[in-house]
Amino acid sequence: MKSSKVIQGGTVVTSGSITVADIRIEDGVITAIGSQLDTTGAETVDAAGLYVFPGGIDPHTHLDMPFGGTVTADDFESGTIAAAFGGTTTVIDFCLTERGKPLTDAISTWHAKADGKAVIDYGFHLMVAEAGEAVLAELPTIIEQEGITSLKVFMAYKNVFQADDGTLFRTLQLAREEGALVMVHAENGDVIDRLIEEALENGQTEPIYHALTRPPQLEGEATGRAAELAGLADAPLYVVHVTCAQAVERIASARSRGLRIYGETCPQYLTLDVTALEGPGFEGAKYVWSPPLREAWHQKALWDALASGTLQTLGSDQCSFNYKGQKELGLGDFSKIPNGGPTIEDRFSILYSEGVAKGRIDLHQFVNIVSTASAKLFGLFPRKGTIAVGSDADLVLFDPAVSRKLSVKDHHLRVDYSAFEGLPLQGEPVSVLVRGEFVIRDREFVGTVGSGKYLKRERFGQSSNILSPHSSASASTGGIRG
Ligand code: URP
Ligand code: ZN
Ligand code: ZN
Ligand code: ZN
Repeated sequence: MKSSKVIQGGTVVTSGSITVADIRIEDGVITAIGSQLDTTGAETVDAAGLYVFPGGIDPHTHLDMPFGGTVTADDFESGTIAAAFGGTTTVIDFCLTERGKPLTDAISTWHAKADGKAVIDYGFHLMVAEAGEAVLAELPTIIEQEGITSLKVFMAYKNVFQADDGTLFRTLQLAREEGALVMVHAENGDVIDRLIEEALENGQTEPIYHALTRPPQLEGEATGRAAELAGLADAPLYVVHVTCAQAVERIASARSRGLRIYGETCPQYLTLDVTALEGPGFEGAKYVWSPPLREAWHQKALWDALASGTLQTLGSDQCSFNYKGQKELGLGDFSKIPNGGPTIEDRFSILYSEGVAKGRIDLHQFVNIVSTASAKLFGLFPRKGTIAVGSDADLVLFDPAVSRKLSVKDHHLRVDYSAFEGLPLQGEPVSVLVRGEFVIRDREFVGTVGSGKYLKRERFGQSSNILSPHSSASASTGGIRG
């Protein structure tokens, strides 16, 4: 059945423009943008007084992921419903692989987790644990046939996910040949392993020691090492979850030398700090991420890096574990606390509220960071990541006038706490469309479980206007402000 809509009178914002306009949608695709558009045969939707943003793209999620002897509390159903409530219409999740097993097995496993469950569109990044002959032989076909054009290498989590520098370098070389983007979790896992051993020998078992055994120097060192290896391989590199000034400095320095180094931070590193790990009792376990929360002064370095374009994206790193029964696995030994937290629903709104409403970034930078830059880096632009004729009608109708506070009482995840309990926010997604269909309408879920589509992505650099290492958002701001 043919479906037509006209979204009327919203303030339409992209990474480069802002205008009050109508948007016509036919069968999931934007067919016209302009004033007083013809509404013949179309459902009309009033967006006056609201921003209309491109749907958020979350480039970093872990849904239904086994980790630390347990499995995340949220899967592709609850996780993508929460994402949609929060203004995100596409996620790219990490497909974990097992050493010695075919990569295609892992991809089948990930399809089985997502297919029939996701309510928004999704793609996969693929983890490379060991770049042996079998893996290197398999990768080109996977990149081509599955459209998985980003590969993930962990430089930490020794004896679990960690790969060695040889694997990182070989993966970068292959990525250069095949047009893929290598992503790194940049921390020095060997040194962290020793520091954890020492802490436990000294009886230092509380959650705060998770942070103290992963100092920012080790994130800076690994970030710099990965950037140098990428430079040698002449390959682009994307550093996930950047938390600290030391890592920002390494990325800025590499970019100033013309290297194609890109970086992401996460809402938790912009709003929370290491003192959260010292909470009463075992509460600090709720705030155990790797890399860890840092001293509060690092937040300014992250905001400055987002504003200047040294960092391009915001990923949620959604990886939720219940406090009861899951985080509690680390009672008496911080190294057994499952790493990660619930962030997928709040990523978009935190960036708007802490970023735009507080004057740290403008509306165009917001759209770029929350959506457009990820679409360009991960081979989805201009199908996703913008509002343009021919693009998928993934849209967020956002009310900048709403004031609210985040709470576990209001989120739509299964996990039993909010990482941002009590955080005051300005602005809220009201309605969210994926390919022209409402998933959230007037703050109610109206989507269909399983309606999300798997996205085969283009190779790195093939999406038009790929970010150059020296570019940053530069259009001017106008219109309503929250
Ligand atoms: O603590 C975190 N970040 N958990 C998720 C896994 C990862 O390293 O991204
Ligand atoms: Zn990581
Ligand atoms: Zn992660
Ligand atoms: Zn701007």
